[in-house]
Amino acid sequence: MNLDLLRGRFITFEGIDGAGKTTHVDALESRLRAAGLDVLRTREPGGTPLAETLRGLLLHSAMDALTESLLVFAARRDHLQQVIEPALACGATVLCDRYTDATFAYQGGGRGFDRAVLSQLEAWVQAGRQPDLTLWFRLTPEVAAARLAGARQPDRFEAMNSDFFSRVDAGYAERQAADPARFVCIDADQPVQAVADAVQAGLDAALARWSAARV
Ligand code: TYD
Repeated sequence: MNLDLLRGRFITFEGIDGAGKTTHVDALESRLRAAGLDVLRTREPGGTPLAETLRGLLLHSAMDALTESLLVFAARRDHLQQVIEPALACGATVLCDRYTDATFAYQGGGRGFDRAVLSQLEAWVQAGRQPDLTLWFRLTPEVAAARLAGARQPDRFEAMNSDFFSRVDAGYAERQAADPARFVCIDADQPVQAVADAVQAGLDAALARWSAARV
């Protein structure tokens, strides 16, 4: 693996609640650090003191979908400016647990909010900053719900029913269809090692693509 190609790359991790992505972000972070890369591990909503404050409001206070979308993008703006852009500029590999695909999936798909408004906010807030690679951990809402059952106290999103998560899944599928080269869809309904192998295969495929693009 030519690690140089990972410097200054923005990699995001997506999926419905219960898909198990955090385990794999942890594993990839350890592996890349052990290989000597400068890694920034972060998450959305969150990643700065202000954005973490907004995260607390989003996860625990009732609000309408427009307010939710504005808060998510406000948090993203701060996170991009304060943390993500400077890290990428220094050549770090940024691993971000969720990003804008989650907004299109949860606010757009799950809550049925207007995608055109989300696209406008995306354009204002991100100035074109898209991930270089998105690993989408996909599994059915039923399996995800079974995994989450009995886990800690659910937040506002985790407490939604499986119809909501079916719409979130459809929202992710729409984003992938709009930008298929960026996405790797990983079957998350497999043993952990098989999912980890799929993550590695997705990363290898991206590295091969970036390598070819450099020639
Ligand atoms: P999550 O990333 O699953 O964190 P944890 O593993 O600690 O529960 O939780 C974040 C929640 O925020 C998740 O339910 C999805 C939601 N969310 C949105 O609704 N819109 C967004 O744009 C983002 C980034 C997250």
